Amino acid sequence: PNKMATVKVLAESPGLSSIPSTYTFPKNESDEQSSVSDTEYDDNLIPVIDFSLLTSSSPEVRSIIINDLREACQKWGFFKVINHGVPEILMKEMMEECKNFFDLTEEEKGEFEGKHVLDPIRSGTSFNASVEKVFCWRDFLKVFVHPQFHSPTKPCGFREISEEYCKRTREVARELLKGISESLGLEASYIDKTLNLNSGLQLLIANLYPPCPQPDLAMGLPPHSDHGLLTLLTQNGIGGLQLQHNSKWVNVDAPPNSFLVNTGDHIEILSNGKYKSVVHRAIVNSKSTRISLAIANGPSLDTVVCPAQELIDNESQAPAYKGMKYIEYLELQQSNRLHIKSCLD
Ligand code: SIN
Ligand code: FE2
Repeated sequence: PNKMATVKVLAESPGLSSIPSTYTFPKNESDEQSSVSDTEYDDNLIPVIDFSLLTSSSPEVRSIIINDLREACQKWGFFKVINHGVPEILMKEMMEECKNFFDLTEEEKGEFEGKHVLDPIRSGTSFNASVEKVFCWRDFLKVFVHPQFHSPTKPCGFREISEEYCKRTREVARELLKGISESLGLEASYIDKTLNLNSGLQLLIANLYPPCPQPDLAMGLPPHSDHGLLTLLTQNGIGGLQLQHNSKWVNVDAPPNSFLVNTGDHIEILSNGKYKSVVHRAIVNSKSTRISLAIANGPSLDTVVCPAQELIDNESQAPAYKGMKYIEYLELQQSNRLHIKSCLD
């Protein structure tokens, strides 16, 4: 009853040459911070992290890669990870399963029409269509995959492939977080232990951006930061991700078989603001269907996250962020969609 049609159905309507006004993003609102101007920086300035160096037994090599991570987190909050060891075939199969999910009938997908932020499997359209005035040119599937694994029952290969994919990407994320801990001057295991990553929350978010007849008027995903610690993103070879860097939007390109990784709000909190979560968005195009797959890795839901004691400046005494359970943060963020990063205030 009153279920909103997906963008896929809309985009496939015969002869669609303009978008409904409910999908038109006001130019300035889509930028929210009016100081942000068009793309200028070159993608090839974005840091590339060679993951294989992180597991090197040579202390010299390790110190180089830790420095690279520090610089990437300080300057960008974003980096590309190569040589991560997740098999190419698994990445391909996972992307294929995402495509197969979106190709299910509307009725089949409708089975997963959850409402609450904590529903374990949720499929839908836009961002939070029940409260939005302007809709995003995006359909999605969002699944809780850790500490308890869930999967839609269709398509039939989804469960097996996604379970393996999530396990492998979780290992990559935990290894990166060890490096990030060290880059902050903390023990390598600091984040893993303090935030209870053995029971850390992991979400699989698949995004579908069908071709859009007026891509400049629409928005795939509006500017936001991710709430967790680290998000590992892949795409079906079609670009659309943009980062905000020094008040400019930067188009991000992905080397083959790489992960696009960004730091989330809980890295900002834990590091007492030394590493900021990066604001990003997804734009759409008129020619190709884009699919992106984000694996979001966060603390355990019951863990109270506050700035690491070791990182609080002695002079200013007070930590810059107040401690809060991750689950409370998620609920606050869901009820408070109005401003970018407003939950960090
Ligand atoms: C996201 O921010 O979760 C996805 C962005 C993208 O589709 O590239
Ligand atoms: Fe995101």
